[in-house]
Amino acid sequence: MQSSKALTAQLLGMLLIAILAGAIPTVLHGAWRLALLQGLAAALFSRPLKQPAWWIPIHLLFLPAALALLTLELPAWLYLLTALLLSLVFWGTIKGDVPLFLSSPAVTDALHQILQQEHASSLIDLGAGIGSVAVPLARQQPNLQVEAWEYAPIPWLITAWRSRKLSNLRVVRMSLWQCELSHCDVVFAFLSPVVMPRLGEKVRREMHSGSLFVSSSFPLPDWQAETVIALTDPMATRLYCYRVP
Ligand SMILES: C[S@@+](CC[C@H](N)C(=O)[O-])C[C@H]1O[C@@H](n2cnc3c(N)ncnc32)[C@H](O)[C@@H]1O
Repeated sequence: MQSSKALTAQLLGMLLIAILAGAIPTVLHGAWRLALLQGLAAALFSRPLKQPAWWIPIHLLFLPAALALLTLELPAWLYLLTALLLSLVFWGTIKGDVPLFLSSPAVTDALHQILQQEHASSLIDLGAGIGSVAVPLARQQPNLQVEAWEYAPIPWLITAWRSRKLSNLRVVRMSLWQCELSHCDVVFAFLSPVVMPRLGEKVRREMHSGSLFVSSSFPLPDWQAETVIALTDPMATRLYCYRVP
């Protein structure tokens, strides 16, 4: 699990710096210097622990950021509130699940075209976030039945609020693994490489023949994409489109 690997990297970083500070106290002293070196050590330890590269800046900045916050002398309840809010947004991330990050409007535009080419009457967004895909598509295509599945409380609440005037958008606060895909023409997901093998099995098992599965950024292993759409948005997003056999 990524959270236990992250903790291990941080602790190893602290241990190494504590040992070095004991061995060469004239060089290694001062809270800021120690915090910066601990960040560097933790980032290096994260590599053999096989953490994804995006953990490197988190390790580098974790202890220095904690130190910086301490100097502000903020009340303790503010930390608790922040932790609570973050956990309501990034619900399963601590377990190593998919975090919240948003598709660009270019993704929505491309999906709009795909849905029209497919003459699709229904779309499911698996892990809908704050509805950045589901809401504009439901708005643009009133005849399209859209389902947005999201389990993180705050993103779900935002999508539910944004859908309040859209009778063709159903927002479900449940895990996407409980979503039945068989009734849908097009299924969209923007998740993570970790879940793609399991998702591929679900798509093969549940989606009806001839329907389309579109994955943003992460391909399905062992599947041949019918088309790959390269977008010119800031993330250079690729949409992998799979026809269900
Ligand atoms: C990368 S974001 C994509 C958001 C949106 N679909 C978009 O394209 O802008 C992934 C979302 O999936 C949600 N998610 C991750 N695992 C989930 C699960 N098992 N069930 C429901 N939602 C999940 C996360 O909370 C996050 O909001």
